[in-house]
Amino acid sequence: MASYLETATEIAREAGSLLSGHFERRVAFELKGEWDLVTEADRASEALIVERLRNHFPTHSIVAEEGGGCQGSSEYTWYVDPLDGTTNFAHSFPVYNVTLGLERAGQMIAGVIYDPTRNEMFAAERGAGAYLNHRRIHVSQAKRLEDSLIATGFPSKKRHHNINIHFYYQLAMVTHGVRRAGAAAIDLAYVACGRLDAFWEFQLNPWDMAAGLLLVEEAGGRCSDMLGAPATLRGPHLLADNGAIHEEILEMFRGVFAGEYRHTLVELPR
Ligand code: IPD
Ligand code: CA
Ligand code: CA
Repeated sequence: MASYLETATEIAREAGSLLSGHFERRVAFELKGEWDLVTEADRASEALIVERLRNHFPTHSIVAEEGGGCQGSSEYTWYVDPLDGTTNFAHSFPVYNVTLGLERAGQMIAGVIYDPTRNEMFAAERGAGAYLNHRRIHVSQAKRLEDSLIATGFPSKKRHHNINIHFYYQLAMVTHGVRRAGAAAIDLAYVACGRLDAFWEFQLNPWDMAAGLLLVEEAGGRCSDMLGAPATLRGPHLLADNGAIHEEILEMFRGVFAGEYRHTLVELPR
């Protein structure tokens, strides 16, 4: 197992340095859907990662965001986001990462999230804990939502169908703040190391959260969907936090899903 994580770490570092090079040069973006950006850096990073994974693990399946994956013959599947935070990247906003997660027979067993800007490598292996640059990490100690700093994200596509702004507003009223940095894997890594107390989002893709879910759990946190059911890679929404505030957040979410808002928007002055 150690060799899976070691190899994933090496590949993520190599892809991260490729991304940094493109970032310095400032790349042009294209639209792959309404408001859904892609750059040559996404494609180059994915080509590199897929080639390396296929060389090391020829029987493994690969699910990669830009479509370069393949079907293997074993029970192992890699989930690859070659550039998480593309919109940030395209605007030179330095919050982005590369992330790889490995699933065996339906269970996440290893994952890495690499942030080249800060040279931070988050890595986790099932049963062996979560690490940031080889140092063990743990979720935060916050016990109450009112003492918490939390985060969320909004999807690039089908934004008009997304109801998250209601959740955002209610949670913003009862916490120290809700961050929206634009890279879901970094948000999850920050929950795992205690920089954030919680993160939630609707409609994430498997590659956004594969490594992050394992990291949060291995760091002592808790993941579920926003109604409290087990978190899955293809679930409709995700809540990941330090465990201590999980029930309190679910209680808030139940209210918002039911349309019972504790805080109403202030009227605009006329
Ligand atoms: C996106 C980012 C963003 C999140 C979106 C994701 P991408 O990934 O993680 O923070 O809000 O839901 O799609 O497209 O930059 O890889
Ligand atoms: Ca992503
Ligand atoms: Ca991506």
